[in-house]
This record gives sequence, C-alpha cells and structure tokens, in this order.
Amino acid sequence: MIEFKNLTFKYRAADENALDHISLSLKQGQWTSVIGHNGSGKSTLVKILMGVLTSYEGEIVVGGETLTEENLLSLRKNFAIVFQNPDNQFVGSTVEDDVAFGLENNGVEREEMVERVEAALDTVNMLDFRTHEPSRLSGGQKQRVAIAGALVMNPDVLILDEATSMLDPKGKREVLESLKRIHGMKETTIIYITHDLAEIDISDYAVVMKDGQVISQGDVEDIYKDIDALESSRLVLPFTMAMSKALSDGSYMSYDELVARL
Ligand SMILES: Nc1ncnc2c1ncn2[C@@H]1O[C@H](COP(=O)(O)OP(=O)(O)O)[C@@H](O)[C@H]1O
Ligand SMILES: [Mg+2]
Repeated sequence: MIEFKNLTFKYRAADENALDHISLSLKQGQWTSVIGHNGSGKSTLVKILMGVLTSYEGEIVVGGETLTEENLLSLRKNFAIVFQNPDNQFVGSTVEDDVAFGLENNGVEREEMVERVEAALDTVNMLDFRTHEPSRLSGGQKQRVAIAGALVMNPDVLILDEATSMLDPKGKREVLESLKRIHGMKETTIIYITHDLAEIDISDYAVVMKDGQVISQGDVEDIYKDIDALESSRLVLPFTMAMSKALSDGSYMSYDELVARL
C-alpha cells in the first residue's frame, strides 16, 4: 500500500539528516505502529508522506504509483492524519461542526452528514459534547474530537501522530479499542505513531526508529523480544518487560529465592 524506498531528508537548518535511508513497506489493511524516542524522525516521516515536507531523496510508492508533486493530491485523497497538537486543527465553532467540516467540503448530503458525525463522535465517546466549543475542551477531549474528524472521512489510510498523547491510560485504551474495531470492520490501513511501547500490542506490525533510522521492524512479539534494540532506542520499557528483564539478570534460581525477590 505504502512503500518508502531509501528515504532521506534533511531540514535546511539542520546538520544531520532527520531521516537517513528509510526503507519500509506498509501493507494494505495493516495496523503499523511506528515507535521511537523524541526526535527519532517519526513526524518527519509522515509529514513527507502527507506532502507537508518536500525535497526528499528516495521514493515513496502509494498503491504501486510513485508519489510526485503532480499526483500527490490524488494519491493521498483518502488519507487522514491526526497530529499531536489538536489546537491547530479545529475549524468549527462547535464539536459537531468541526467534525462535519471535511464532509461539508466534499458536498455530503445533510442527512448522511449528521449520521456520520454522530457515529464518529460516538466512537470516541464524545457525543455528549457535540454542541460544545472545541477550544474549551480538555487536551484529551480535543484529541478525541480530532480523531473523530479523521474517522468521519472514512479514510483508507489513517495516520495518528502521537494523537492520544494527552489521554490518560484508560482514555488511551478506549480510543485504541475503538480504532481496533474500526480497523477490523473497514480494513483501514493505520499508521500509529507513539513513543509509548505499551501501546503497540494492539498493532499487526511495528517499526522502531532511532536517529532517523529504522533499527528494528517486525511482528509485535518480535519487537518485544528485541529488548536490546528497544533499550538502545532509549524507549521506556513497559513495566512487565522491565520487570522480567530485571529478574532475568538475577541469579536467584530457586523457587524460594524468586518468591523472595518478587
Ligand atoms: N523544522 C525543523 N527544523 C530543523 N530540524 C527539525 C525540524 N523539525 C524537526 N527537526 C529535527 O528533525 C529530527 C526529527 O524530528 P521529528 O520528526 O519531529 O521527530 P519525532 O516526531 O520522532 O519526535 C529531530 O532531530 C528534530 O530536532
Ligand atoms: Mg513527532
């Protein structure tokens, strides 16, 4: 569905490449998590995919076609992205107006629009806030509305760039479960960017980035096993992983020793 071939990018003001020969292949309908420490290049990667940043080296292929300036708009017509900071993304004066904005632009009939907006707000648990002003919501609520605004478009490819970072663990889990349901129903291709390793268990595939490079990729189980790569990427290990690693370093092999240690 989406292929990055040898993608290299440098910001004009920077000395180092923000992306350094990235090669990645994302399958249609797959949920891919892209995980990496702050500054590892995750946002740069999706900004290039969305056409926000240009003048890269290498190639991006979408559905078999190489992305160019000419076909960029049509190839990513059915892509939706939610960025980390929802404040820059609101256009409507109420939550429902905001979520309806993209549909309105596409000339969707009023009746269908109302239905789709309701369904999208319900998915992120924000239906009760439909008449509220987006700017007055909490950070987590804003992120939910921004996600609804993307979902309502029925995208083929949904990109979430740290889009749940302001939600508490319970809220995150709720949004992840809703996304999983949608992903299962509609075979939406999902690119889920995060620096939280505990969030990737829900994905089909995971990519670990460090300093503009992909240092590990594979099924989630493989990634979880590659503790060395995870540690070298300076990611915080989830509690259970940190615990089992700490235990495996010990020499308390007898049952009593282990129980005492635990
Ligand atoms: N506008 C910019 N100008 C110069 N350097 C930038 C700019 N945006 C990001 N960078 C640098 O590019 C690298 C990758 O950044 P980014 O893609 O935002 O990482 P991530 O999303 O993983 O936190 C970092 O070293 C960051 O400092
Ligand atoms: Mg980022």
